[in-house]
Amino acid sequence: MTEEMSPIETAKYVAARRAAEFVQDGMRVGLGTGSTAAWMVRRLGERVRDDGLRIKGVPTSTATAQLAREVGIEVVSLDQAGWLDLTIDGADEFDGEFNLIKGGGAALLQEKIVATASDQMIVIADAGKEVETLGAFPLPVEVIPFGWQTTRTLIEEALDTLDVLGTSVTLRMNGEVPRVTDESNHILDLHLKRIGNARQLALVLNQIPGVVENGLFIDICDKVVIGHGDGRVELRDLNDGTVETDQPGENGENLFSDLTD
Ligand code: 5RP
Repeated sequence: MTEEMSPIETAKYVAARRAAEFVQDGMRVGLGTGSTAAWMVRRLGERVRDDGLRIKGVPTSTATAQLAREVGIEVVSLDQAGWLDLTIDGADEFDGEFNLIKGGGAALLQEKIVATASDQMIVIADAGKEVETLGAFPLPVEVIPFGWQTTRTLIEEALDTLDVLGTSVTLRMNGEVPRVTDESNHILDLHLKRIGNARQLALVLNQIPGVVENGLFIDICDKVVIGHGDGRVELRDLNDGTVETDQPGENGENLFSDLTD
């Protein structure tokens, strides 16, 4: 089965698996959304089933909630959990200061609320998500459906005054109709190419009426676990400045044991 995994999928898988080791018994854990986060949720499900790990999971989307339940994780709402020990989530881009673009899966609103309500956020990503400057990935912005075209115009006007390279804004579609988020909103994708000042952009966007939240995660992420296509995993910690690298199959472990029949 592992032969069928592309290098990118392998990278996501090993990063997710390594990050799941940070989850300890009794923790309240924010569960991210996307294909990398899904590997992490499955891994936590295994630990619940096989090792008796007891955790409460707060999902960041209906898709993650469904998967978490399927794999046997106890799912609670953020309000039931109150505060979280740790959130593990994917990202579309991360820079050297661990600032992120998120929302490629349209779940940025719940993802940002959940990550902000956590003692620690760990991002899991394949190495291709690392950038020097954010912005090549279109920045998702969640807007309410009412007057979304006016909101788009206001965003375009704001972009003209900011340090970005591109200013085109598109409505994310799901076939013929606008993509609808879990909060019944729309997503505008901002094709900025390069974001000179992410902190300023995030603040300006959230001042515009109709904008619910933007996909820039500034000063939220503490650690990044980066997977590589050959199974190597790199662990970077922003707070203590450390970088560790695990080689594939260190300690004789078969990283893919759960995937082989
Ligand atoms: C969803 C997200 C995802 O974390 C991001 O899009 C990365 O997804 P993937 O792990 O599938 O590459 O922000 O809103």
